[in-house]
Amino acid sequence: MLSIRGLTKAYGDLEVLRGLDLDVRPGEICGLLGRNGAGKTTLVSIVSGLCAADGGSVRIDGLDAFRDMRRIRNRLGVAPQDLGIYPTLSVHANLEFFGGLNGVRGGELRRRIAEVAIELSLQDLLSRRAGTLSGGQKRRLHTALALLHTSSLLFLDEPTVGADVVTRGELLEAVKRRAAEGCAVVYATHHLAEIEEMTASVAILEGGVILERGDLDSVVAKYGRSMAELEFAGEAPFLDGWQHDGAFVRLVAPDPARAVAAAIASLDGAAARLRNVRIVPANLQTAYLAVTGHAPDATGMDTEGVDAVA
Ligand SMILES: Nc1ncnc2c1ncn2[C@@H]1O[C@H](COP(=O)(O)OP(=O)(O)O)[C@@H](O)[C@H]1O
Ligand SMILES: [Mg+2]
Repeated sequence: MLSIRGLTKAYGDLEVLRGLDLDVRPGEICGLLGRNGAGKTTLVSIVSGLCAADGGSVRIDGLDAFRDMRRIRNRLGVAPQDLGIYPTLSVHANLEFFGGLNGVRGGELRRRIAEVAIELSLQDLLSRRAGTLSGGQKRRLHTALALLHTSSLLFLDEPTVGADVVTRGELLEAVKRRAAEGCAVVYATHHLAEIEEMTASVAILEGGVILERGDLDSVVAKYGRSMAELEFAGEAPFLDGWQHDGAFVRLVAPDPARAVAAAIASLDGAAARLRNVRIVPANLQTAYLAVTGHAPDATGMDTEGVDAVA
């Protein structure tokens, strides 16, 4: 479906992509993970024909994306990172316009607009001018524009930025539905929890290449480590070997329950200030830390401050 080989891209001296390989199968949601500046948007822009690569190849449905973009364009659904809606047009007119651009017309267009409007809760907003929508509503319309036509490959670049909880849930459901219909999806984000929620596969973009690739379970099984966390009223007491972070101490350990028991036994007077004990199972967050040595971003991480584990 999507096959990328040796992709390179530099902006002046800044080498963003350094020979990147990536394959995505039909029906697969590929979570493209990377911190801000990793090159996610650059990759999405190149593959969707919005920006030129310096080298390498991209094949979509067996066609050369750099030569045959015209033939491929209708098979692609793209929701870029920046909002691409027309603020002076109504929600309905936006949907009609973008549907038309992708070759959806007449009764088919009306049917698709009705479906997508239900899917992303836009039914009551169809006559509103797009510019008057809230942030979450704009994000829903923006994504709806990419979902209007039946595509075999869907690119969503940080689709939940600025989205409220309900919008976020609807977007993830819509993505899962497209994948279930056989669409290959590339979902760029730094919110690891969304990848876990969709049981997407994982592609970690770091240093201009895909540093780790696999399904969620195998990446978590390979790199994830469980973690223990104690929370105190006021400053956490010193505990040898634990990471101190204000009221919290944390420890990445293969047997966190045993580590918690030992730590609590050694607390003495501070035991009275213990407020919470949490054992975080191995998850994508700890796996991501182990692979890259850092968090994807402050947001979406609940293991901030935990060191990478080998
Ligand atoms: N048009 C551009 N000109 C110069 N530098 C750019 C341009 N677009 C992106 N960059 C830089 O390339 C790097 C990757 O950016 P981007 O692809 O947007 O990353 P991400 O989407 O993962 O946050 C960043 O350092 C960014 O500042
Ligand atoms: Mg980006």
